[in-house]
Amino acid sequence: MTKNKNPQYYMDLEAKHGAHNYHPLPVVLSKGRGAKVWDVEGKEYYDFLSAYSAVNQGHCHPKIVEAMTEQVDRIALTSRAFHNDQMGEFCKFVTEYFGYDKVLPMNTGAEADETAFKLARKWGYEVKGIEENKAKIIVCEENFHGRTLAMISFSTDPEAYGNYGPFLPGVVKIPFNDLDALEKTLDEIGEETCGFLLEPIQGEAGVYVPDEGYLKKAYDLCKKHNVLFMADEVQTGLARTGKLLACDHEGVRPDILTLGKALSGGMLPASAVLADDEIMLTIKPGQHGSTFGGYPVACRVAVAALTVLKEENLAEEAARKGEIFRKFLNDLNDENIVLVRGKGLLNAAVIKEKKSKDGKDLEAWDLCLMMAKHGVLAKPTHGDIIRFAPPLVITDDELLDALNKIKLAVEEYAEA
Ligand SMILES: Cc1ncc(COP(=O)(O)O)c(C=O)c1O
Repeated sequence: MTKNKNPQYYMDLEAKHGAHNYHPLPVVLSKGRGAKVWDVEGKEYYDFLSAYSAVNQGHCHPKIVEAMTEQVDRIALTSRAFHNDQMGEFCKFVTEYFGYDKVLPMNTGAEADETAFKLARKWGYEVKGIEENKAKIIVCEENFHGRTLAMISFSTDPEAYGNYGPFLPGVVKIPFNDLDALEKTLDEIGEETCGFLLEPIQGEAGVYVPDEGYLKKAYDLCKKHNVLFMADEVQTGLARTGKLLACDHEGVRPDILTLGKALSGGMLPASAVLADDEIMLTIKPGQHGSTFGGYPVACRVAVAALTVLKEENLAEEAARKGEIFRKFLNDLNDENIVLVRGKGLLNAAVIKEKKSKDGKDLEAWDLCLMMAKHGVLAKPTHGDIIRFAPPLVITDDELLDALNKIKLAVEEYAEA
């Protein structure tokens, strides 16, 4: 099916006809299975990005493919103007799976977060009693909640928000992992605050894991001020960090939970917002929605994808393999790997910039190119940080093989 085996052909097509809003590694993929992907020339790689943790269940998981193809063949899209025979089954399944009264399905992670924000505001006005148009939301600096205007109004990254203003009012930004800042802010504006939105581990920022106890104490502070604790688990959720949700590490049950990415095992854009009735039922018919949100294919695929997570014990697998991963990188004792951090199979390494023997500046990007050459795909996130997040189905043998390839690249970087 691949028309042309020359990677440059595809890269040129993209560059000429596609917007230049990404800077991909020069690799052109055409096939994936489990933890592995192949490029148009047939070269094999381990995928250590997993489409930003969307492919936790591995590429083309047979059970998810089967659910999807069966549904596509029957009926793909009904819109929510009519009922369909998958939506209700999905709602029951997913609310029981995560323990919430209700779910609101959307498509992308950004849309789920946007929905959570709208819900928090509605709840703020209609339940908490905040004065009209005065609601505030507290977010964390260095966050990543997606690319819509509301989400970049939360951002402190000039790359994300530069020249897209004016931005949404009512957003208060505090440092991540700073309970004093949260307490002080809540003391000041708790009454008009509807929610505190955070990633339990900041993924895009570079896999920043907060101090133990932070999530629980932040949750308690929110409760004290009648503020919704809103967890964006679009990247950290669904077994990636070694528990079903990253909040589970501290026994915290968010008031509003957003999921995306691996909710479909990477098959299609499917996201969800979970909350109890007091919050969710503030949105009435006609007040929010999406043509594709909760469409039959997404519903079928999500049930299959969530079933795979449990059937294959992927949370436990992520926890165990994460230990192996971090130990291996730490044991390399390489001066160019400044720091390794993470939880489960969501990890990052901070890479030292250096000059090559012929005077060129080398950085994380160059190490990623070297890893690709040796057969492991990963990408820098924020300059000197490389995120490592393989599909959770990677076998022990594959993980060891991949780690040895990473080692070869690290040695090449050291010798360059
Ligand atoms: C924590 C988090 N929230 C939201 C998003 C946005 O998801 P999407 O790209 O599907 O809109 C991402 C994407 O990386 C994310 O990591």
